[in-house]
Amino acid sequence: MPLALGTTAGRSLKGRVQVPGDKSISHRSLLFGAIADGITRIEGLLPAEDPLSTAACLRAMGVSVSPIEAGQPVIVEGVGLDGFREPESVLDCGNSGTTMRLMLGLLAGRAGRHFVMTGDDSLRRRPMKRVGAPLSEMGARIAGRSGGNLAPLAISGQELQGVTIRTPVASAQVKSAILLAALTANGSTTVIEPVQSRDHSERMLRAFGADLQVGGAGNTEVTVTPGQRLRGQEVIVPGDISSAAFWLIAGAITPGADLTIENVGLNPSRTGILDVLEAMGARIEVLNQRDVAGEPVGDLRVTHGPLQAFEINAELIPRLVDEIPVLAVAACYASGVSRVTGAEELRVKETDRLAVMARQLGAMGARIDEFSDGMTIQGETQLHGAEVDSETDHRVAMSLAVAAQIATGPTTLHRPEAAAVSYPSFWDDLERLQA
Ligand code: S3P
Repeated sequence: MPLALGTTAGRSLKGRVQVPGDKSISHRSLLFGAIADGITRIEGLLPAEDPLSTAACLRAMGVSVSPIEAGQPVIVEGVGLDGFREPESVLDCGNSGTTMRLMLGLLAGRAGRHFVMTGDDSLRRRPMKRVGAPLSEMGARIAGRSGGNLAPLAISGQELQGVTIRTPVASAQVKSAILLAALTANGSTTVIEPVQSRDHSERMLRAFGADLQVGGAGNTEVTVTPGQRLRGQEVIVPGDISSAAFWLIAGAITPGADLTIENVGLNPSRTGILDVLEAMGARIEVLNQRDVAGEPVGDLRVTHGPLQAFEINAELIPRLVDEIPVLAVAACYASGVSRVTGAEELRVKETDRLAVMARQLGAMGARIDEFSDGMTIQGETQLHGAEVDSETDHRVAMSLAVAAQIATGPTTLHRPEAAAVSYPSFWDDLERLQA
């Protein structure tokens, strides 16, 4: 059902909000718990469609995962490094690229077993060769449509060899898939990235007991030496900074706004959004900084104020890759012309986010010039309400809701339910903070 937005004209945003658990850490806690020995207890796991896809795949391979419900801890009974049962049917990864890519790494080395993975219309269009190619260097056998690039993918489990791999793109999904395959390969494996991507896998695999070394300029080289079994852990998942980003920008651009977002993960490989907002002159305070289960966490307070345009380049992209759609909204409001370059990765996310934001935000009056690896966005643009569509992309849905907040007149958002992929309570939180 389409959703009416922007009908509460003049209403500001005030109050406190707890965003749901970090999506990256949620997937990893399920996957690493599954291949550990013993019990993993997860607090704050994101109860959204993407982690549910991961849990369903694991259950289909004989892993016991307790029901995933908001506010309830999740218990995973690990089956050990090589304990996955051959599933009787196709593993459905839904909309989740992280599920498919990390599982490729986990399944490639399950010798003698056969696995088939598929996903929804969006996931079946996303490139998987970026994982399949390095895994084949280790001896993996993965087949799929389009020369093995597109799901459905068939994996015929093999014994793998350790290798040194230079990845052409900075992608935590690619890096993590290789590290997971490395856990049971013969000999050590090193992954070298062009720029460091998010490092949750490294932190968590170490905590689970893996032999993992990080080095190189800017922590771009990670080496796994197999031989260690993983032990079940207590994981506490912090709030997702990529979900907090919607409130940070909604608060920064809505007159009179004053929002506090509690318990947000502040891992430095994810905080590019805070650096950009600071450079824009946004009024953001980091409060109550602490360490929770190996990840830095804090509360973020944002109040409305003027903003300057931003410049974002390839070096910074991995630290805010999921926040570009909502930053495009902030850019419309800022003074000056904002520019994103080196962001060709956005074209292979849940949708082509450069094209979709240019089209949908454009329908609300945004002046965006899209080019192959980025876009420019003209500031001081008064957005107007319009008929827009998430095009099934969760982050597009929520970014358009933030735009509707400062647009004149009502907006109708088609396919708002996409938000449930990473933030099922987003619409309830929006209504409450507007009240
Ligand atoms: C993720 C990594 C990012 C991000 C995605 C989650 C992860 O993708 O866009 O939402 O959990 O590893 P890439 O690192 O592949 O760009």
